[in-house]
Formats: sequence, structure tokens, C-alpha cells
Amino acid sequence: MSTGNDTRETWSTRLGFILAAVGSAVGLGNIWRFPFQVGQEGGAAFIVVYLAFVLVIGFPAMMVEFVVGRKTGLNTVGAIREFAGGAWTYLGSLFVFIGFVILAYYSVVGGWVLRYVLGSVTGGYVGTTGPEEAPVAQQYFGEIATGLDALAFHALFMLLVVVIVALGVKRGIELGVKIMVPAIALIFGVLAVYAFTLPGAAEAYSYYLSPDLDYLLANWQSIVPAAAGQGFFTLSLGMGVMITYASYLSEDENLGIDGATIVGFNTGISILTGLVVFPILFSAGVDPGEGGAGAIFVSVAQALGDIQFGWLLGVLFFGTVAIAALSSAISLIEVIVSYAIDELGVTRRRATVLIGSGIFLLGVPVTVDTDMVTLYDIFAAKILLVVGGILLVVLVAWRHADDAIAELGKGIDSFAGIDRVWLWTVRVPVLVVLVVSLALGILEFVS
Ligand code: PFF
Ligand code: NA
Repeated sequence: MSTGNDTRETWSTRLGFILAAVGSAVGLGNIWRFPFQVGQEGGAAFIVVYLAFVLVIGFPAMMVEFVVGRKTGLNTVGAIREFAGGAWTYLGSLFVFIGFVILAYYSVVGGWVLRYVLGSVTGGYVGTTGPEEAPVAQQYFGEIATGLDALAFHALFMLLVVVIVALGVKRGIELGVKIMVPAIALIFGVLAVYAFTLPGAAEAYSYYLSPDLDYLLANWQSIVPAAAGQGFFTLSLGMGVMITYASYLSEDENLGIDGATIVGFNTGISILTGLVVFPILFSAGVDPGEGGAGAIFVSVAQALGDIQFGWLLGVLFFGTVAIAALSSAISLIEVIVSYAIDELGVTRRRATVLIGSGIFLLGVPVTVDTDMVTLYDIFAAKILLVVGGILLVVLVAWRHADDAIAELGKGIDSFAGIDRVWLWTVRVPVLVVLVVSLALGILEFVS
């Protein structure tokens, strides 16, 4: 179905592409970052803006990447060069840089997840049930989030990524994702039902689902960049992952339907995660704004202490989250590795080991202090990905609109002017919101 040399695997089927793209999208962004952002930005007011952005910005921006990938059939850097040429080629280098930064701290958080798989078995985070739970769960997170534990599990996470990518067993990812998505839906479903029975549930639902418009109007300067950053981060946009994945697609593929499927799964899992996390936090008397980077770990650990066979559910929960995190991490490193293979002529194995080591080192400072997670994270999601998104939009929707429209139309039978709607949505409102978000994100980062 596609061209590709022996260093580039192709999707065996259309399902293979969707699974890989869902595997990239669904990850720590949904399970760890989403509740953390919601808590920081005041609950439902953030959700409203976030959902609007996913639809009006995220989905069209995904089409932008799909168009470049499928038209060129090349890795990210090659794709940008072929699509645009000239100075635009540097955009590919920017994507490589973004991949380094994101994976560096993503791996530290992925290490926390692996640590919690172990902690579920040893019972480390479980106190006696009742009010004892909250402090035990909190203290446990405090102990493992930094220091030697964090460093060791960061190393383990990167090692897993490197081994999977070096062996080129990405096909295994298809299987992993096939198991991961239903498993997450099931396990989170069980936890959401448990959370529903908690005394703080009603208050949590109103916080999470009923937007306070006054709050929104008073805080839009922080909500807008947070929602844009989360939209790009969670959908794996702004650094070429979706360009790479779409490069293997054939022309009879309807890009719109594929994009909608990916966005749908990704959004569903985020919303479900919130239904687990917030009732637990409210019931424990934890202010969701104070939960920070540990919110998901502390709240879930605490719930598991209350549940029969909680340790087993914990192994399954953190185990599936680990698969989700790994499939996203692989998509991140793959942008860099395929660049190194195609452009620098390095072998896959050598490229993966060297790049993986570099990323590991870049993540070391993050294991020293959890504030470093926030620092890397704001820089990556609110600045770098948004810059990547802006440049891609300018390139595709302003500089090469005719090519883009023609590419988008392939595989879609009845267009009825949707292509023009897409083009003008991306050209003006998307661009304006992204530029405003970037400005606000930079202000936040430097202050
Ligand atoms: N989308 C992934 C998540 O939500 O966990 C994270 C991610 C993957 C971000 C790939 C960016 C990226 F290019
Ligand atoms: Na995501």
C-alpha cells in the first residue's frame, strides 16, 4: 500500500494506522496531564474552552499534519522539506528538538507509573482504610517522585522505549493499543463507578461539569493557553508525529473520518479520567487546584486502598497506563529516530540508543524536583507545540493551500464545500487563537 524502505514499517491495514495514532494520542496527556490542567484552571470553565479548542483547533490542525504526511509519504523532516523546501526545512529540526524536550520529562512521569505498578504489588501506597489513606498516598508520591527512585524508573522507562524502537517491533504496538484502549475504558469505568459512590461525588461533578462563566471571563488569560497547550499535547500535534503516521496512508483513505475517530477516543478517555479523579479528590478534602503533578497518582492510590483487591486493580490500572505512556513515547522518539536514519544515515539501533541516552540525560534534572516537571511541561506544551502548530498552519493553509485542499479531497466522496470551511477556519480563527495562546504562554513561562 505504500512506499517505504526497510527502515520504515508500514501499516498493514487502515486499522493499523488508526491504532498507532490512537496509541500516540492516548497517554499521560489524558491520564496525568488532563486532570492536572483541569485542577489548575478551575474545573468546568477549562473543560468548555478545551472541548471547543479540540473541535475547532485540534481537529483541523490534525488535518493539516495528515495532508503533509500523506502527500509526501516521508518522515517528518523529509516531508517538510519536500512539501515546502527552503528555510521551512528548519521546521523539521524544530520538531526534533521538541521531541527531545517532551520525551525527557514524559519519561520521568512514565517512570512514576512504572513505580506505581511495583507499589501496587508491594502495597507501598496503601494505608489502613479510612481517613488514614490520604496522607499515606500523598506521602508515598512525595517519596517516589524525585530522587533515586525517580531516576531509576526514568531510566527503566527510557530503556523500554529504546528496546522496543531499536528492535523495530512497532507492530507490537498495534497489539498493545488493541488491548490498552478497551482495558482503560473498563478499568477506569470500574473506578468511575466506585468514585460515584463517594460522599464528595456531587460536589466534584458540579466542579467538573458545570462551568462557572464568571470564572472563565475572569481567568481567560490563563485558561486559553492552557486549553490550547492541552489540545496540542493530548492529540500529539505540533511536532510532526501525525505527519509521520499519515505518511503511510493510501489515497483512498478519508482523512476526516480517521481524524474524528482519533479525536473521539482521545477525548472520551480524558473525560472518563476526570470522572475518576475528581470525586476522589473532593472526598478526600484535597483542593483540586493543589493536586498538581501528583493528582492522579495520589487520588487513584487512595481509592485503591479502599477497594477489595485494590492491589490487583492497581497493577492493572498502572500497567495499562504504562502501555498508554509507552505507545505515546514511541511515537515521540520515532520522529527523531527516523530523522537520524534518513538524514544522517545512522543505523536504527545506533540512532535509538544514542537518542535514548540523550533524552535520558535531559530528563535527569526533572527527577530532582517536581517543579522541574512543570517547567519543562509549560515550555513544551504552551510554547513549543504551539509554535510548531502556528508554523505548520502558515505553511499548509497559507503557503500551499491548493496542494492541501487537493490532498484533503482524496478519499472523500462528497465534499460540499467543507474543504473551504476547513481552510478558512485554519487560516484565521485557528491562527489567531494560537498566536494569542503563544503570547500568553510565553508570559506565563517567563514570570
Ligand atoms: N499525546 C500524548 C499524550 O496525550 O500522552 C503525548 C504526546 C505524544 C505529545 C506525541 C506530543 C507528541 F508528539
Ligand atoms: Na492524549
